[in-house]
Amino acid sequence: MSETSKEHSRAGSVAVDSEGMVKGEISPSDVRVGFKCYVEKAGEKRRAEILSTHVRKGKLVFYVHYEEFNKRLDEWIPAERLDLKMPVEIPKPEKPKKTLASGKESAKNNKVAKKGKKTSKKGKPTPAGGKENDEAAAKEALGEDEMDLDDVQPNGQVETGEFNREEEIEKLRTSGSMTQNSHEIARVRNLTSVIMGAHEIEPWYFSPYPVELTEEDVIYICEFSLCYFGSKKQFERFRSKCTLRHPPGNEIYRDDDNKISFFEIDGRRQRTWCRNLCLFSKLFLDHKTLYYDVDPFLFYCMTKQDERGHHLVGYFSKEKESADNYNVACILTLPQYQRHGYGRVLIDFSYNLSMKEGKHGSPEKPLSDLGLLSYRAYWADTIIELLMETKKPEMTIEDVANTTAMTTTDVLHTLQTLNMLKYYKGQHIICLTDAIVQKYERQKQKKRIRIDPNKLQWKPPVFTAAQLRFAW
Ligand code: ACO
Repeated sequence: MSETSKEHSRAGSVAVDSEGMVKGEISPSDVRVGFKCYVEKAGEKRRAEILSTHVRKGKLVFYVHYEEFNKRLDEWIPAERLDLKMPVEIPKPEKPKKTLASGKESAKNNKVAKKGKKTSKKGKPTPAGGKENDEAAAKEALGEDEMDLDDVQPNGQVETGEFNREEEIEKLRTSGSMTQNSHEIARVRNLTSVIMGAHEIEPWYFSPYPVELTEEDVIYICEFSLCYFGSKKQFERFRSKCTLRHPPGNEIYRDDDNKISFFEIDGRRQRTWCRNLCLFSKLFLDHKTLYYDVDPFLFYCMTKQDERGHHLVGYFSKEKESADNYNVACILTLPQYQRHGYGRVLIDFSYNLSMKEGKHGSPEKPLSDLGLLSYRAYWADTIIELLMETKKPEMTIEDVANTTAMTTTDVLHTLQTLNMLKYYKGQHIICLTDAIVQKYERQKQKKRIRIDPNKLQWKPPVFTAAQLRFAW
């Protein structure tokens, strides 16, 4: 069989050259999953991969992922937006994987396997709010963990190459999430629209809601119980009976000026509510695997109060017992509240809890692109503020970590990124440059909600061994 005819059979009725490019013009009905072609997006032509096709109301629609754009922007488009006059590529089928025993590939795989040991220790149970999926673990083992925090040594040395913020953010921005789920189904967003309280929200990613709901144009989520409905009528009937007006846990923090509260919810005691929360948050978190085992987690939910009740703004989950001293497993600001500073408040709260526990904490890795941006901003601003306001020139990395409850690795990494570490007379010292002073002045102008430790009514919960046994 000639090369061209082999390619021809791969692409069905479409003729393809040896480079995998379609010969001549094809019609939308010839377009299959995996084809890469140009799509009209906001007045521009962007190259996109077809992830799924479907006939909706008698018309062919395509689910596309724009190359070099975040996965959040993936969308269903009608056939008219495909430009099939421009080059169309049909990716070659993947070659079978080489065995462990052969050549270079084998050495690489062995390396992965070795490093993977470390990862699998980290990735112990499979939590609802937490652990990255296997693919992420593999990436991390391969050294593709975008945080690269492991490369930073407490003594200030960086094991591998120069840290480049722009490159790292770019990588995250374009890959969309830390891991692209290899399962075809999970690559396609399954809900179109969600109505929650006064907000209509467009989901970003796949979440395993019951399949019947995925056929609805819109689903309804009760903003207090987080129960979900495919029919408005059912939802309204439910709402007329639902008496819940705040997350079902203890209110451990209240800021009357900003009408902000935090509730602590035990995954074991409020299984259904917490599972509903995980299911909902999976719509906006792509790099975490959702499991229904919420028992090992506590959920810290931030609300904003009005006359109708405490409306959920965001939350973070936290392992009851984290072998790695993670103080956050998953963190989310509901999309309708994002970019208003609430993510920073959630992060600040998580460090206040760590402070009360007398521990240093760090979020679970890998972080998403937005998670990384938010943590970077929080770490930088917190450290700069501390150094500017305490005015103690002799402050060490350990002092900063002890005062902020951050890990020394995160402090060190942040100081390096900000170019604040100088090697002087055989040791690293922290320097406040003019650029840092200016950054501090700019940040001071911003009106921010801050956590007041005096308003936190909380003792670190203690669990017995039996309570921490999660098989049920
Ligand atoms: N673009 C650029 N910078 C951003 C963006 C963005 N879209 N979002 C946050 N930032 C940065 C900014 O520096 C910002 O500070 P600034 O406003 O002073 O410039 C800082 O992060 C904090 O912004 P907030 O408004 O406080 O953050 P927000 O309420 O939007 O919440 C969060 C941030 C929680 C990451 C939110 O984007 C989110 O829920 N994303 C989806 C879920 C997710 O990715 N979670 C993190 C996963 S990692 C983990 O769970 C451990």
